[in-house]
Amino acid sequence: MKITIANSEREFDCTAAWRVIGQMLARPASVIGLSTGRTTGNMHRLIAEIHKQYPFPVGKTTFFGLDEVTGVSRYYSGACYTMLKTELIDALGVDDDHFLMLPTQCDDFSRACADFRQEIARRGGIDLLMLGLGENGHLGFNQPGSPLGGEAWVTRMNVELEERIRRETNTPPDVPLGGATLGLKDIMQARRIVLVAKGRNKTEIVHRMLQGPVTPDVPASILQLHPDCEFLLDAEASAGLTF
Ligand code: GLP
Repeated sequence: MKITIANSEREFDCTAAWRVIGQMLARPASVIGLSTGRTTGNMHRLIAEIHKQYPFPVGKTTFFGLDEVTGVSRYYSGACYTMLKTELIDALGVDDDHFLMLPTQCDDFSRACADFRQEIARRGGIDLLMLGLGENGHLGFNQPGSPLGGEAWVTRMNVELEERIRRETNTPPDVPLGGATLGLKDIMQARRIVLVAKGRNKTEIVHRMLQGPVTPDVPASILQLHPDCEFLLDAEASAGLTF
């Protein structure tokens, strides 16, 4: 298990950014998965900033989002599509054919999830997957209790997030909201994974993820079994680990 502990937020963001850029330089036609949230925003903006100052080839890389909110417009500021577009994709000049997302609205989500998996496979599978970590151990929208062998699907989101999204998008209670996400099996099939976690609110779950049992109660604990997963942490997130 490879654990990297950054000494500052800047070092954390910079290390994460270089994992992505390094992958692109080593293999321009890579398929790279991205996560949204507070942890990854700075890293995305930093990749864009570095690219602006020191341009490197981008045209052959396929980026995709690990998960997406369902039941809202993809142009809502909290949709993963819009977050990734504004933080990174547009600044890099990535075209639509090289940016894959699960839909926010769709008549047949099972079909869309199957198509998404198939398209990633058609491009050679995932070379690098950057993962965030939920405070309850979720990966993407795979909440505690999700099947460890699961494929892309639509799940319920947690109550707090659902309430916030309803408020921000004026979505009435009768319109279902959810989260489309790659499943835990899909995640485990990535050739390389970098899990990023920072801050005091992640201390306990990082400990359970790395030093507790592998269990569906903590979906991220499955990463203990991945052959090439790096855990990039800051001092606060790693404070509960015993070495
Ligand atoms: C949400 C996203 C995940 C992300 C997680 C962590 O649940 N759907 O993809 O990894 O949040 O978010 P944060 O970095 O804000 O803690």
